[in-house]
Amino acid sequence: MVYIYSKKDTSFQKVPEEVNAGWEVWQKNNCQTCHQLYGLGGYMGPDLTNMSSDPHKGPKYMRVFIKYGTNKMPDFHLNDTEVNQVLAFLKWVDQSGQNRVKAESVHWTGTYIIQ
Ligand code: HEC
Repeated sequence: MVYIYSKKDTSFQKVPEEVNAGWEVWQKNNCQTCHQLYGLGGYMGPDLTNMSSDPHKGPKYMRVFIKYGTNKMPDFHLNDTEVNQVLAFLKWVDQSGQNRVKAESVHWTGTYIIQ
């Protein structure tokens, strides 16, 4: 079981079972080699950090790519349970942070301004 430290509640919280399983699907299939989370990872495919809440994309759109692949992304032959798990993981990632640093958080010298 994975726990994550919550800065907001200053406590450790259990990561939901489905999210944890989705993280394992993500790891096993090396999604990170082509996709970034929080801006880190491979650059063949797009950053997926905030795609779940993107009004033009979201889970329904993402499901098609994950389930069938495209001519650029492999089909991993995941079953429906695994697809749901990886979508739950990506939704959880979305709620945990941003893929971009906000413009107002960047100092003119290029350093990060802690608000
Ligand atoms: C070999 C590189 C590669 C791997 C590995 C890979 N992807 Fe992709 N993925 C891509 C590319 C390239 C695209 C863009 C597809 C296109 O436009 O045809 C994409 C698109 C997507 C999209 C839709 C995003 C968008 O708007 O285009 C999702 C969601 C996604 N991948 C999830 C995953 C997940 C989950 C895994 C692991 C199970 C994974 N990918 C593994 C290369 C990869």
